[in-house]
Amino acid sequence: MKKYLMAGNWKMHKTFKETTEYFEIFLKGLAEFNFSDREIMIAPPFTVLAHTRKLTEESFIKLGAQNACWEEKGAFTGEISPVMLKELGVTYVILGHSERRHIFGETNELIGKRVGGVYRYGLIPILCVGETLEERKSGKTLEVVKTQLIEGLKELKEVKGNDLVIAYEPVWAIGTGVNATPEQAEEVHAFIRKKLEEIYNKEISEKIRILYGGSVKPENIADLMRQPNIDGVLVGGASLDPEKFIKICTIQIEKIC
Ligand code: PGA
Repeated sequence: MKKYLMAGNWKMHKTFKETTEYFEIFLKGLAEFNFSDREIMIAPPFTVLAHTRKLTEESFIKLGAQNACWEEKGAFTGEISPVMLKELGVTYVILGHSERRHIFGETNELIGKRVGGVYRYGLIPILCVGETLEERKSGKTLEVVKTQLIEGLKELKEVKGNDLVIAYEPVWAIGTGVNATPEQAEEVHAFIRKKLEEIYNKEISEKIRILYGGSVKPENIADLMRQPNIDGVLVGGASLDPEKFIKICTIQIEKIC
């Protein structure tokens, strides 16, 4: 069964001490819930990955990283290898996040290499795609998303489906408080699903989880998750507050039929 994925991206937030405090509240808050239909993932900064692993070892929380190189080792100053991440118990790696693309200039080509490398070493890539406001206003949303998808998945000729995640994150919705409406998100998610069907096949495309990201909060999570092609969320700001992220992770999911 395909499980929903509720993922938190801490970005460049939280020290060692803050991480300890967070999980004291977070783990307590989740204790009484039964999560057979979903997975919960947190991607903290690299510096607290090992600490997070230790704190969450006995829970069902999956560990994520916020980037990774495609090589096992070598002269790549400032990079982290997928093998090193695996050793720490990491399952998922966020790649091609809009902040990597727009602040650090990562190209589709580079992101495609990262996705390929991470996959080869047995980690699950979360490939992020999404248009800027300007691109949306000029009617280029689907074209931009299509290119990011095709280039980002270039090295993944064959996948099983449960070993790949796509996150649709419109750049104009990230950290702005303005989320895409459920209908806007569903339109792009359905388009992504169609493209995945063309790249792989129908059966595989249905197994690939497509997350929505961009100003997800306790107030809008239920409506977003009602959409047929939204299989989870990637949450930035609201995942930093354990109480808010508990509400997001434990939302009752009811799909529109
Ligand atoms: P946000 O960030 O939830 O703060 O908008 C989402 C993301 O960047 O993944």
